[in-house]
Amino acid sequence: MNKTVVVIGSQWGDEGKGKITNYLSEAADVIVRFQGGDNAGHTIVFDNNTYKLHLLPSGIFDENKKNIMGNGMVINPKSLIKELEDIRSYGFKCNNLYISDRAHVIFDYHKVLDVLIEESLGDLKIGTTKKGIGPAYTDKVSRIGIRMADFVSDDFEEIYYKHLALKNKEIVRLGGEPISKDSLKEYLVIREIIKPLVCDTISLINEEHKLGSKILFEGAQGALLDIDYGTYPYVTSSSPSSAGVVVGSGLGVNKINEVLGIVKAYTTRVGEGPFPSELNNSLGDHIREVGHEYGATTNRPRRIGWFDSVLLNYSSMVNGLTGLAIMLLDVLTGINELQICVSYTLDGKIINSIPARLKDFSRCKPNYISLPGWSEDITNVKSFDELPVNAKNYLRKIEELVGVEIKCFSVGPDREQTIIMKEII
Ligand code: IMP
Repeated sequence: MNKTVVVIGSQWGDEGKGKITNYLSEAADVIVRFQGGDNAGHTIVFDNNTYKLHLLPSGIFDENKKNIMGNGMVINPKSLIKELEDIRSYGFKCNNLYISDRAHVIFDYHKVLDVLIEESLGDLKIGTTKKGIGPAYTDKVSRIGIRMADFVSDDFEEIYYKHLALKNKEIVRLGGEPISKDSLKEYLVIREIIKPLVCDTISLINEEHKLGSKILFEGAQGALLDIDYGTYPYVTSSSPSSAGVVVGSGLGVNKINEVLGIVKAYTTRVGEGPFPSELNNSLGDHIREVGHEYGATTNRPRRIGWFDSVLLNYSSMVNGLTGLAIMLLDVLTGINELQICVSYTLDGKIINSIPARLKDFSRCKPNYISLPGWSEDITNVKSFDELPVNAKNYLRKIEELVGVEIKCFSVGPDREQTIIMKEII
């Protein structure tokens, strides 16, 4: 049994991390988000209700769990308040939330800059979620960001005006309208609501670990969107890989027990960037519709492709995956022949890695193996043994190609449709 479990999106995000984290959170005492912000969209379905979380950790529904927003996050206070109101309207109290005093704050000027920078990039645009994530992390690294500790301090007004003046210069330079000083007022109201939640979460996590609490780390986005390991520059600005846990939460690297890679039974991507196994055809459209593959944050149609074991092997390597959770297996039901990308061909050579240069990655042609599909409804299966033989073979092939044990799989959106093959937490 593991005390600390990390849930990592192992492709380009949207793998179903919210569902798995929420499921595993039943056994956890503490749930931690360690990077990203409201660019994430975690969908959780239980008791016939669908909840969409962008910022709050997925254990928020159970008041006996501690939910921590770690120091590696960038938090838009306006979005946070709205999300808290939404979840509270369903009757959940949400008084089990702790926000790191070292987390950075996203202000309106970050969102405005996100849009202006994208526009100025023309063909080179990233296709961001326009939530101000990149500009907020840029300020963090440039050492001009405002952290939660400052946001809730008495000095905030002075700090805000200084930063606003600086940021308005950038906004004007990019052709935008400067943000009025009046914008402070709303933040002064919001911060009073947030103030009691802000604390030293680094000490809190370490104390919980010493007490023997089970801690679940909830990654957002995916390893291939990682600023270092991802398909740069078409990446997010944080570290959604397992390395980000240590930086973004303050728990030592030697305290991590399990790294569970969340993987779709196929592949999706939102925004720009190369995607060798992409299906630009009616089968891709079919999978998009059956899998409801539209962005939880932006509602953009997701790009669809076959499962790619080259990507997964890379992801497994950089994350140190110790287990796999295969999601959305039911979406593949009814497809006669399934393909898995097992290598790329680049300039006549077969390769098993991701080239650093995007131009080279864009030129990679996928090489596939084919497996027979299944037509039986699998949405009610309760164990691996109940799966049709072709579905079992498909899972076993993924396991063999990636070299990591499958510890659970999912056959539908409901919490009940998660089949655990091996104890995780
Ligand atoms: P940003 O994180 O808004 O800066 O967007 C950078 C890239 O990451 C874009 O391609 C986005 O579509 C992608 N991205 C950001 N968050 C998510 C997510 O939660 N799921 C999938 N893609 C994401």
